[in-house]
Amino acid sequence: MTTLRLLWLHVASCVAAAVPETFPRYGCGAGHDHYPFCDTQLNIDERVHDLISRLTLEEKPLLMVARESPLGNVSRLGIPQFNWGPNCQHVVSARCGRGTRGEPRCPTPFPQPNFLGATFNESVWRSMGEVLGSELRALWIQGVGENRPPTQLPPLGLDCWSPNINLVRDPRWGRNLETPSEDPYVLGRFGSAVVRAVQYGEDPKYLRAVATVKHFVANSLEGPWPGPGGPASYPGTGLCPGQTCTRHTIDVNISAFDLASSYMPAFKTSVVEGGALGVMCSYNSVNGTPSCANQWLLEQKLRKEWGFEGYVAADTGAVGDIFKHHYYTPTMSDAVVAALEAGTDVESANFKNGRAWRTGGNYIRLIPGAVRDGRLAEATVDAALARSLRLRFRLGLFDPPAGQIYEHTSPNVVRSRKHLSAALEAAEQGLVLLQNREVGSRPVLPVSGRVALIGPHATSRRELLGNYNGQPCPGLSAKGEYVYDCVQTLLEAFGNLTQVTHAAGLANLTSGSTELFAEAVAVARKADVVVLALGLDAIALEGESRDRKRLTLPEGQLALFDAVRSAGRPVVVVLLNGGAVAMSHFKQYAEGIVEAWYPGFFGASALARAIVGQSNRWGKLPVTIYDESFEEVDMLSFDMTKAPGRTYRFYTGTPLWPFGYGLSYTTFRLQLLSSPSLAIGTKSRKAEVAVELRNTGHREGDEVLMAFFEAQGAFPAGSKAALLQRQLFAFQRLTLAAGQVEAVQFPVRSEDFAVFNDEGDKVIYPGTYEVRITNGHTAVSVLVQVAGRSPLVLERWVPASEERIVV
Ligand SMILES: *[C@@H]1O[C@H](CO)[C@@H](O)[C@H](O)[C@H]1NC(C)=O
Ligand SMILES: *[C@@H]1O[C@H](CO)[C@@H](O)[C@H](O)[C@H]1NC(C)=O
Ligand SMILES: *[C@@H]1O[C@H](CO)[C@@H](O)[C@H](O)[C@H]1NC(C)=O
Ligand SMILES: *[C@@H]1O[C@H](CO)[C@@H](O)[C@H](O)[C@H]1NC(C)=O
Ligand SMILES: *[C@@H]1O[C@H](CO)[C@@H](O)[C@H](O)[C@H]1NC(C)=O
Repeated sequence: MTTLRLLWLHVASCVAAAVPETFPRYGCGAGHDHYPFCDTQLNIDERVHDLISRLTLEEKPLLMVARESPLGNVSRLGIPQFNWGPNCQHVVSARCGRGTRGEPRCPTPFPQPNFLGATFNESVWRSMGEVLGSELRALWIQGVGENRPPTQLPPLGLDCWSPNINLVRDPRWGRNLETPSEDPYVLGRFGSAVVRAVQYGEDPKYLRAVATVKHFVANSLEGPWPGPGGPASYPGTGLCPGQTCTRHTIDVNISAFDLASSYMPAFKTSVVEGGALGVMCSYNSVNGTPSCANQWLLEQKLRKEWGFEGYVAADTGAVGDIFKHHYYTPTMSDAVVAALEAGTDVESANFKNGRAWRTGGNYIRLIPGAVRDGRLAEATVDAALARSLRLRFRLGLFDPPAGQIYEHTSPNVVRSRKHLSAALEAAEQGLVLLQNREVGSRPVLPVSGRVALIGPHATSRRELLGNYNGQPCPGLSAKGEYVYDCVQTLLEAFGNLTQVTHAAGLANLTSGSTELFAEAVAVARKADVVVLALGLDAIALEGESRDRKRLTLPEGQLALFDAVRSAGRPVVVVLLNGGAVAMSHFKQYAEGIVEAWYPGFFGASALARAIVGQSNRWGKLPVTIYDESFEEVDMLSFDMTKAPGRTYRFYTGTPLWPFGYGLSYTTFRLQLLSSPSLAIGTKSRKAEVAVELRNTGHREGDEVLMAFFEAQGAFPAGSKAALLQRQLFAFQRLTLAAGQVEAVQFPVRSEDFAVFNDEGDKVIYPGTYEVRITNGHTAVSVLVQVAGRSPLVLERWVPASEERIVV
């Protein structure tokens, strides 16, 4: 052997040692590289076809399950296991990895998506996607387990089962915290930005990871709610068979107009513009058919109309729900057939240590029998398998790893300085200043003098993070659970910046006891200003499978507010929550209100900095804050237009604060630069609205400009579109120094004014539109004349009944 060759071997073994082979991650390794599917000269379809042709009927479904499954391997052919996804809604939901020096490196946490929506900054969303994509690769290389210790979990896969881009339909929905807005346009921009950044990195050939947008479609209720009843028998009849409405049982009745204009657009944008390669079908039924058995949804809309080229994963347990909760099929085996024929490629099955656990692996148990009985064509199984396998090839998992850029992702990217600073940047931009009254001659915020920090959230750690957190801090508790000791509290963060005294006021968020009030009042009296940290949590008060019943805060917190106010000091309420909280009382009596959502790992310091005035980077409301009367609205109605209407687009009542609202410590003046009236044709002539934004105050500040259109009678009277009050079609965030002036252009195309008719067709109506550019409280307007003799139909809606393929 030559010296050179020896040297090469030495180098090769060092490279290998740097990335220990924790579990088999690549196919086509030594002894298994002679198959045509390993031939990198062939195209992916040929390779996938060859691989499938070598699998037995029993082996195929092993590759069609995901989640907490140590299976997914066919060792005979050298096909390694693959567990599709962890969640990564704002952090890779995984345990900590280790850096090159053996140090623990926990995934980098961003604020919750509802906070991220309030930033109205696509760079923030993109930067989060980049962090998620590269940390997912790095943790996958290390074989790090998915969330939820202390069970022995298999390593996570290379698919972010995120982002959640369901519509914030109602403030009571338990998962509002996971999604950025009530507006389909914002949801689509967020989805596209995150998806692109997760999937596509520096390698032009391979995917870095897959992003799976969810939950398709109209998953916007958790339950439990009393249902209107209906027989619990096949086939599914009634809104919620089995009497109780949950996300597993509900059969939502949604018009073509609402599907086309509210529930679907973000998915379409994320697929068409973002290039999403994963879509998760939801638990619920839509108009009589469970989403995961809905051929019209998964084949007609997703694949045929939108050109989706990725795979569909069922939400965990959703295949089972087709039979068990929707009574849509007479047997579980028929549910499996229905799911596969509709286009559900991968079942998330909750296997554990190789055994069926909880919901069981229906695909593994039931596919072979259904094929043998002649109830399921093997070609249908192969087509589903091919769609998911194509992605495994595109991820590089059947090519030699050595030459792949992502295989060399350093373990040190996880919570690297660069990633931390991206998360810190994000944490500064989504707080919303709702109220800032003058006390004496100056606004109460930023606070000065002696600060009393009071309230049950003053010392919260875990509660700041929201849900789907991954492991935030190194180490586990004695019980083997995650610890939160590395998360700073508000009290600690304030303590770093200013003189602060503290009283809890309440033992916890739901306490009704007034026992600690006297101490809180005494502490308030000795201060110049009170910061009262109140709100919800995603542990007991709202969250997945848990809708809120009330829109207000728990009674004890309202009583604490009144008690503290009796001390006669100005009160600034800092509110933590996912779904918006109705707070007429605070609006009337609190001097200051800061909406903090779930501000995340760096939330405490970002909040403290904002409240004492070290930063001035406020966001805007991405949702409407309704008053208490919204509690009367029927939670089971998915009709956006039914009185009083849902979201800023259709709500006809007066909200406490409207969508887009948010104040700043500085002042801005907005002026129109372009002509106050414009004309364009229906066939896409482009025009531009130009405005000038001037920071007229004394300090630097961020501002968000939003462009809405309002039709001036252009839509047919009596149509649902005529109920659309206004629609956002562009936004821009800017930072302006004191006195700085910036010209901002908003291109206006006729497609921006496209809406949907009652049949679901996408249409541009000729007529007059008012375009309003606003920062949430002041606005400038331009009248845009869209010329044309008749409505221009851009897309025809294909209804479910026309496409139903009877098998
Ligand atoms: C998958 O891998 C496990 C453990 O490595 C092995 O026991 C099992 O037989 C494999 N399954 C198949 C179908 O090859
Ligand atoms: C769905 O809602 C529409 C109107 O909102 C109603 O006419 C129709 O009967 C409903 N369908 C079912 C199955 O409840
Ligand atoms: C803030 O306070 C915490 C503990 O309360 C401390 O560990 C940390 O170093 C402080 N940070 C700064 C920037 O002062
Ligand atoms: C909240 O505090 C009250 C005491 O005020 C106590 O009775 C209750 O058990 C506590 N709840 C929780 C969930 O800790
Ligand atoms: C938008 O976000 C990026 C990334 O966090 C940040 O660098 C930039 O300053 C933000 N823009 C504004 C105007 O706040």
